[in-house]
Amino acid sequence: MDDPAPSPARPLRFPPGFLWGAATSAFQIEGSTTAEGRGESIWDRFCRQPGRVAGGASGEPACDHYRRWPEDVALMARLGLRAYRFSVAWPRIVPRGGGRVNQAGLDFYRRLIAALHAHGIVPVATLYHWDLPQPLQERGGWAARDTALRFAEYAALLFDRLGAEVPLWVTINEPMLITYAGYAGRAKAPGAGRPFQSLAVAHHLLLAHGLAVRAFRQSAVRPAADLPAPGIGIVLNLRPCHPASPRPRDARAAATLDALTNRLFLAPLFRGHYPADALRFFRRRLVPLPAAPDDLSIIATPADFLGLNVYVRVLAAAGNPLTGPRQVPGPGPRTALGWEIYPPCISEAIALAREYTTLPLYLTENGAAFADQPAPDGTINDRERIAYLQAHLAEAHRALRAGADLRGYFVWSLLDNFEWEDGYAPRFGLVHVDFATQARRPKASAHWYADVIARNGLLLE
Ligand code: FCB
Repeated sequence: MDDPAPSPARPLRFPPGFLWGAATSAFQIEGSTTAEGRGESIWDRFCRQPGRVAGGASGEPACDHYRRWPEDVALMARLGLRAYRFSVAWPRIVPRGGGRVNQAGLDFYRRLIAALHAHGIVPVATLYHWDLPQPLQERGGWAARDTALRFAEYAALLFDRLGAEVPLWVTINEPMLITYAGYAGRAKAPGAGRPFQSLAVAHHLLLAHGLAVRAFRQSAVRPAADLPAPGIGIVLNLRPCHPASPRPRDARAAATLDALTNRLFLAPLFRGHYPADALRFFRRRLVPLPAAPDDLSIIATPADFLGLNVYVRVLAAAGNPLTGPRQVPGPGPRTALGWEIYPPCISEAIALAREYTTLPLYLTENGAAFADQPAPDGTINDRERIAYLQAHLAEAHRALRAGADLRGYFVWSLLDNFEWEDGYAPRFGLVHVDFATQARRPKASAHWYADVIARNGLLLE
């Protein structure tokens, strides 16, 4: 786009057909964790372990979306969403991770997808948003190569059964967080705390992605021509890394964190090799990379788009030689989760992605938790969220003006929901959920976003 820079008098318009959406994930909203043949996931198990999740919370009942989905789709339609990104719970479809298929699980998603189409909302389905079937974890989880092979079977099954109705498929959501928070660290399920598994986990997640892209190409999936840019891609949560000071040692720390956080995933996907500095970091710590000869060409199988989840930047400072670089807090204002608000993270993450690929990009998640309080009259005037979304969308527009092929934007999240280890306190939704009654109430940001969608652009205040 060659628009001149916008002024307050001039709205920021987005390209025709820009896909405005909102995102959720299965475990965070569905509840009904034992209903109709669903198997156990690593998150069910994790939530039962004392001290893992704030307040001892679990995925039950979450937003009870498994039963209330018609109401939720109607809500999306009222907001005018053009697209809805949800995830399919692997344990609902293949309860033990391999073998027997649970028809009731497939039927649930088939009905949801049909309802979305009935309202003209484009379904965007994520195959893996962190709810691994527990039986696969017992055989090593993502540290085991077999999990990538089981994932490819599960993906092929979904392409076969639901492919014609879903134009956009996401393979894996945020392999970086799974690697470091789930396996190297203990914050997220399975909470393994095994840093020596880092490379194996990252590699098997990427391999799973590549195998799923190949399965997609071999499937008979030919989505209807009127749907947008059909295809498949992965979602990375890129975090622009900045040195905390001009000192060279902090610049080196930022480069290392950038390699481990971002380039460890971008380089194999788009250049077919792991970055030398990241490999050196792991070699020094005796972390093995269990790659078979063809794996990197499978991982680099061309996809159709790249999804970016963007929330934060990283400020890096030199640490001690053993622990490596450290992150220091940035100076900006913070969300309720303590995340620094730094809107240029959007344009910087897009610029980073464009170093690696010319594929169409989607911002598949962006949003913030704030302590939203209903007023006595029941309205929720979440001005901070509106300001946050507005500033981040303005950065998305800046990236478009710089030539990025950005096709859509998904607010995280449609509903307040189960925010993983932080439980139900952080509220990310455009729509407020009263978890005692399950009442949904659109916040001011929902009305604001409906307006952005209707005008396909932003009015800057
Ligand atoms: C992302 C996750 C998503 C949600 C947001 C806040 O990392 O993909 O499920 O928890 O953070």
